[in-house]
Amino acid sequence: MVEEQLDEKSASSRRKSAFKPALLSDIPIGLEERRSVGLHEVDRVLGGGFVKGSVVLLGGDPGIGKSTLTLQIAEKMASGNGKALYISGEESSIQVRLRAQRLKIAGDGIVFLPETEMESILEQAETMMPAFLIIDSIQTVYKSSMNSSPGSVGQVRECCSDIMKFAKDRGIPTIIIGHVTKFGAIAGPKTLEHIVDTVLYFEGEKDQQYRILRASKNRFGSTNEIGVFEMTADGLVEVENPTSIFVTDSQASGSVIVSIMEGTRPLLLEVQALTNPTYFNYPQRVATGIDYKRLTMLLAVLERRVGINVFGLDCFLNVVGGIKVFETAIDLGIIVAVASAVRNKPVAKGTVIIGEVGLGGEVRSVWGIENRLREADKLGLQTAIIPAKSPSPQGIKLNVIRVAEARQAVEQLMNS
Ligand code: TYD
Ligand code: MG
Repeated sequence: MVEEQLDEKSASSRRKSAFKPALLSDIPIGLEERRSVGLHEVDRVLGGGFVKGSVVLLGGDPGIGKSTLTLQIAEKMASGNGKALYISGEESSIQVRLRAQRLKIAGDGIVFLPETEMESILEQAETMMPAFLIIDSIQTVYKSSMNSSPGSVGQVRECCSDIMKFAKDRGIPTIIIGHVTKFGAIAGPKTLEHIVDTVLYFEGEKDQQYRILRASKNRFGSTNEIGVFEMTADGLVEVENPTSIFVTDSQASGSVIVSIMEGTRPLLLEVQALTNPTYFNYPQRVATGIDYKRLTMLLAVLERRVGINVFGLDCFLNVVGGIKVFETAIDLGIIVAVASAVRNKPVAKGTVIIGEVGLGGEVRSVWGIENRLREADKLGLQTAIIPAKSPSPQGIKLNVIRVAEARQAVEQLMNS
C-alpha cells in the first residue's frame, strides 16, 4: 500500500481546459513535425525522429547505458537549432562533463542543470526554451507541494504529467529516463507507460557489449523496429546490421539460423550443434540457451521420426550470443542442426528454419510467421523453411519452402 497525498491545487488547475470540442472532420490534417536525431538506430525506433512536443520514456536497468545514450542523442539534437537542457538528479555536473568528454562531446550545445525540484525545473526550462529536454531520471525529481518522497507512485506520476504538459504546450521533444528495477519496482516506468507518447526500453546484459533499444509503445510509429548498439570505451556505437552479431556466415556443419520473436519483433539467431562419439557409458547431452529437456525430446524425435541415430553420440547444442530461447519455433532448427552435425553436412548458406516440432515428427505452425519472414528477407537471407500450414506473406524475395514433417526439412536441406 502506498499513501498518496491529495493535491488540491493541481487537481483544480487541471480542470481548466484550453481545448474546445471540434468535429473530427474539421481538424486539419498535417504531417506531425519531426526532427531526425541523426542516429539512425534511434530514428528508426522512434519512427523517423522526435515528434514536436512528444515525450519519450526511456526505461532500462541501472547501468545499462541510458544516460550515455541520452547524452549522445542530446548532442545530435542540439547541433541544429537551439540547445538541449539536460536535467540530472542522478549525477553531478563533473560526472556528466567527464562522460561527455569520454564520448568526445564538446558540450557547447548542452546545458546542464542538477535540479530535482519540479517547479524549479519547469521554471528554468520555461526561461531557456530548449530545443530538447532531458530528465535523468524521473525517480529523482519531486514536487514540493506533495508530501510523498521522490520515486513514489504519486510523485512519479504527477511529475511525469507536469513534464508532459510542459512539453506539449511548448512543443519541446523530451526524454524522461526511468529505471526499471527487477524486484519491487513500485514506481518504475510501468506506472508511466500510459501517460507518455512513446516508451523505449534499453536492454542487454551488462557483461556483454550489445544493447537493444526497442519501442514497447509508440503513438507516432510502429513498435516493430529495434535499434542495436555496441557499448564501447567511447560510448554507444550503432550496429547497422544486427544479424551480423548473432548470425555469422558460418559454413560449418551443425550451424543453422532460426528466428525468435522478442515481443513483437523478430530476431534471427544462430544455433549450433556438435556431435561426437561418446567416451562414456551414457552419451552426454549439453544444452546452452535452450531447455535441456526440450533438447532430449527433439533428439528422440530425430531418432524415431527422422531416422537419424544419435545413440552413442555426445550432443552439444548452443544458442550463439548467450541468448536464452524459450520458444518452440526453433524446434525444427535444432533438429536440422543436429542432423547436419551427425551427417557432417552444412546447411545451405542464408537459410532460416522456422517451426515447432511435435512428438509425431510433424511440423506445427508458429505465430508471427509474416514478421519472421520479413525480417529474414530484410536481412538478405535467401531461403526459409516454414510449417506447411503457414500464411503466404506478400512481396518478399525469400524462397519459401513448406514442410509438414521434420523428415522433409532434413531431406530437403541435407540432400540438396
Ligand atoms: P550509464 O549511461 O551511466 O547507465 P544508466 O544511465 O543506464 O544507469 O552507463 C553506465 C555504464 O556504461 C558504465 O558501467 C560504464 C559504461 N560506459 C562505457 O562502457 N563506455 C562509455 O563510453 C560510457 C560513457 C559508459
Ligand atoms: Mg544514468
